[in-house]
Amino acid sequence: MLRRPRRNRKSETVRNLVAENSLSTNDFIFPLFLLEGEKQKIEVDSMPGIYRLSVDHMLKEIEECMNLGIKSFDIFPVVAEKHKDKMATQSANHDFFYLKALKEIKEKFPEACIMTDVAMDPYSTDGHDGIVDEHGNILNDETLEILGDMALAQAETGIDIIGPSDMMDGRVEYIRDTLDDNGFEHVSIMSYTAKYASAFYGPFRDALDSAPKSGDKKTYQMNPANKHEALIEAELDADEGADFLMVKPALAYLDVIHLLKENHELPIAAYNVSGEYSMIKAAAAKGWLDGERTMMESLLSIKRAGADIILSYFAKEAAKLIK
Ligand code: PBG
Repeated sequence: MLRRPRRNRKSETVRNLVAENSLSTNDFIFPLFLLEGEKQKIEVDSMPGIYRLSVDHMLKEIEECMNLGIKSFDIFPVVAEKHKDKMATQSANHDFFYLKALKEIKEKFPEACIMTDVAMDPYSTDGHDGIVDEHGNILNDETLEILGDMALAQAETGIDIIGPSDMMDGRVEYIRDTLDDNGFEHVSIMSYTAKYASAFYGPFRDALDSAPKSGDKKTYQMNPANKHEALIEAELDADEGADFLMVKPALAYLDVIHLLKENHELPIAAYNVSGEYSMIKAAAAKGWLDGERTMMESLLSIKRAGADIILSYFAKEAAKLIK
């Protein structure tokens, strides 16, 4: 036998020498859930180890993460029912706790990279990402204006990356134009390019209490049956000025991550979503899986598939192991 692949696996050091991929804390964006008020820290039932935090706690959490090497955060607001309405008005209100907290966070940690989410669902009484008309249809073009206002208000707080997660057609261009017209050409857009109508978002909707009140998101989020359609979305987002293309969820869509990486020059992000986190946590709690090893293998697989950036609820835990 002249060729023996096992020679390159003979010791930890040799295995590391020939490793094609590795994880770094630089790869991660850690999603965080922001609560109104202060001194609030409430665990998400379906996501053990993940908390909804008021801004005082969130500042501490960010500091801890920064010390572990995690420097990027995606912040989502938990909006009380009383603040919701049909047009998601609070999303562009500078007196609303989310925008005030973003400003405070950027002032305290100017070197951190803060990403925000643009979609109507957390602020909407309908729980949809766009405006719902009297027949239950999601109005695309009318929604763009709200998304533009929301993105601009977020940019005004000093954040670094806007994350449109709504899947309306034309929103990247609309947001890019709005930002540029107002002097925010330096604010980046990480577009949720291939965002699928997925059952894996369940725990996130528990965390934010943002599940749709009626219907589902299948007329705007992609059909899990489709892969090549992601190329259409990617081409549009790139042409419309996106700086990053995202695939979401990650683990059930590794083929889509790979496809976008092979076909586009822009950095590819993958969102390792709430349900993917909860599955591993649940199996580990039962003793059916080794939680740490399953976590690291999953994250590495997302990287191997072609992701340059991973948004993951495991970011902090993984950073402790990488250190
Ligand atoms: C809001 C949004 C969702 C997620 C990120 N932004 C939920 C949804 O579209 O219903 C899901 C994230 C996760 O499950 O971790 N548009």
